[in-house]
Amino acid sequence: MIIKSEETGTELIELSKLEQVGKQFSFLMACYRCAIMEVETKIRVLNETLSQQYDRNPIETIKTRLKNPRSISDKLRRKGLPQTVTSIEENLNDVAGIRVICSFPEDVYLIARYLLQQDDVELVSSKDYIRHPKANGYRSLHLIIETPIFLADEKRLMRVEVQLRTIAMDFWASLEHKMRYKKDLNCAEEIAAELKECAEESARLDARMQRIRARIEYNE
Ligand code: GTP
Ligand code: MG
Repeated sequence: MIIKSEETGTELIELSKLEQVGKQFSFLMACYRCAIMEVETKIRVLNETLSQQYDRNPIETIKTRLKNPRSISDKLRRKGLPQTVTSIEENLNDVAGIRVICSFPEDVYLIARYLLQQDDVELVSSKDYIRHPKANGYRSLHLIIETPIFLADEKRLMRVEVQLRTIAMDFWASLEHKMRYKKDLNCAEEIAAELKECAEESARLDARMQRIRARIEYNE
């Protein structure tokens, strides 16, 4: 059976092909879900072992998300890339996403270092928006990693986006995200300027709290 466009009557896609593409797409999404599970476990294991070593939990929260089909398709269109299943895997790095939230900035780097030194984790690219914040004040450490998942009869390398940030950076990013998606915002420039000031104030607070923690730990 062939599906035809109602307007032009032209052939769009054969139904059996559509079914095949659907299967390919849901298999790829299942692979990304497995990759999320693998990386989430790696991070939980690190939290557990580091909490033994340092007598505190470096991680506050872990959030995971799988990009939804609509966002995947929008991103491919925006970037002028083909709308195919292969194109998703080849071109998009953030279909599988993990956000790791720590209390202190140094824990962000500690987790990143231990994750990247694992021999089945390959760093594809990184952006350090903590050392080099974005112009709007956004801070976070972004890693694109590649890691294997083991399926019934194959090993597959999957890419995962890991965002690491402090509680304060996360708090700021959620508020800024709200502003970003609000259309027709009054005083947008004024709000953006105030948010930037908040980002700087909050970074100073993060640094100050980290110094206090060090003083408590070393009892000076
Ligand atoms: P996309 O935005 O996903 O196309 O990626 P990119 O290639 O520009 O990568 P980047 O690492 O800069 O950003 C990836 C993700 O980080 C975004 O999808 C957001 O989740 C987050 N992010 C980046 N910049 C900002 C920002 O200014 N504010 C907020 N709230 N989040 C941001
Ligand atoms: Mg993204």
